[in-house]
Amino acid sequence: MGMLISRVRFRAAGRTIGTAMGTSGMPKSRWDAPAEAGRTRYSPLQIVLHWAVVALVTVQWLTYDAIARTHSSLMRPKPIDLLEHSVHTWSGIAIGVLMVARLGLRFRRRREGSRLGWKDRVAALVHSGLYAALLAQAASGFVARYLWGGAALAHVWIWKAILALLVLHVLGAAYHLVRRDGVFGRMLPGPRAASGGR
Ligand code: HEM
Ligand code: HEM
Repeated sequence: MGMLISRVRFRAAGRTIGTAMGTSGMPKSRWDAPAEAGRTRYSPLQIVLHWAVVALVTVQWLTYDAIARTHSSLMRPKPIDLLEHSVHTWSGIAIGVLMVARLGLRFRRRREGSRLGWKDRVAALVHSGLYAALLAQAASGFVARYLWGGAALAHVWIWKAILALLVLHVLGAAYHLVRRDGVFGRMLPGPRAASGGR
């Protein structure tokens, strides 16, 4: 029955690094099951959310310029600036919501910390930093927009932190891509992930 919760364990790089909850021995939903047990530790839902957030952060980067133009007392904002401002607001709120969802999915997985090397620890630290910084950025943007303009200063500084974390994150991803150790493929959908991915 639906109440009976079982765990599907999967292994990657020779160690158990996650679980996916399910009913009657089956993953709870296809979307939230690991794409290929034993090969990847991210479910299709986690992969979709990762790349959706990447797209939305790109939108934030493309639209933030227009906000200064809409707030400028020296010039009249163009309609496109107003549109970009609004896109920035809604895309930023979406990032906040999606990061909360990602965090929820993340907490359903366990990590065996004792067997992690220093590189895994750095990666985990950068990942945690990205979660924290993106959530804080969505919150500070919301506060700056609707509650208290002073939060804009935090919004500017958190963005610099996000950029620094992203440099480390993308360098890490490139390192795994070059080494072809399958880590990059864990965040790719489909056959690439199933084949260990690059
Ligand atoms: C994680 C999501 C977000 C990212 C990555 C982001 C990024 C940025 C960046 C880079 C800037 C320009 C900062 C600068 O001048 O150097 C900015 C400005 C701004 N953002 Fe966001 N933003 C996000 C979410 C939001 C949300 C949710 C809102 C509103 C609901 C918002 C409202 C604003 C406003 C009002 C400004 C202008 C602040 C000012 O007056 O200087 N942002 N954002
Ligand atoms: C806005 C941009 C990005 C953000 C906010 C972001 C955030 C994250 C986070 C938080 C994780 C950890 C997921 C978890 O364990 O819960 C992760 C994993 C990952 N990301 Fe990104 N990421 C971004 C861009 C990228 C880009 C551009 C690449 C590829 C070049 C990439 C490749 C990966 C890979 C391969 C993993 C899996 C690492 C592993 O299994 O240990 N990410 N990302």
